[in-house]
Amino acid sequence: MTRQRLVVFSGAGVSAESGLRTFRDSDGLWEEHRIEDVATPEAWRRDPATVLRFYDMRREQVLAARPNAAHRAIADLEDRFHVEVVTQNIDDLHERAGSTRVLHLHGEILKVRSTAEPTLITRLNGTSLRLGDRCALGSQLRPHIVWFGEEVPEMQRAAALISKADVLVVVGTSLQVYPAAGLIHYLPRTAEMFVVDPKDPQVGVQGAHHWKQKASEGLPALALHLRKRISDR
Ligand code: APR
Repeated sequence: MTRQRLVVFSGAGVSAESGLRTFRDSDGLWEEHRIEDVATPEAWRRDPATVLRFYDMRREQVLAARPNAAHRAIADLEDRFHVEVVTQNIDDLHERAGSTRVLHLHGEILKVRSTAEPTLITRLNGTSLRLGDRCALGSQLRPHIVWFGEEVPEMQRAAALISKADVLVVVGTSLQVYPAAGLIHYLPRTAEMFVVDPKDPQVGVQGAHHWKQKASEGLPALALHLRKRISDR
């Protein structure tokens, strides 16, 4: 029997219990930092040192974090489903938990890229990116992050994956940031959507099954439910 195609669309909430702060909750990162100071092309032009300091901190925290039960449950689903993870997160916790197909919509904190040639992407040597660190072409390196106001190069690939899904699991995202949030609308009408989030879902996810739980509880429970359905068939 062909495997069902399951897409997990994750946001900061899936990594919250690994100790990485979300953006828009009451203790979120955007309470402490202004987006326009650290996460836009204008900020990079105006004050690159501040931008680099912000992402150095993010990188340190990611390196110290460990995947939690939600990341592991998602990875383990690969034994019964064809799983694709589409994440807005810049951490590598899905990969470290064992997920083999992970698409990062908003970039990856452990990578850097050339400011002259955006396809020149490498893993950062060490933990800190400095002014004066250059790519092979001699231009300044920048964090491999999609900033506000920039194009999201992986959108098309992500939309194609979701448009072929049988099941979509949305976990830990406030669905407030576009174009990523619009991806859920690519899900076929015949497919099912589950939302795992302790807060009530957005209007856009009406008709979804809401598992009003934290990711580390909700994801293992949902995974059990999905597996059981397969073996009951
Ligand atoms: N388990 C599951 N969900 C949780 C948990 C948890 N333990 N804790 C919080 N959440 C939920 C919140 O209820 C909220 O719905 O995670 C969501 C976090 O929302 P945001 O902080 O807005 O994060 P996200 O949706 O990933 O942000 C999207 O915004 O700033 C940008 O580029 C950044 O990729 C990010 C994008």
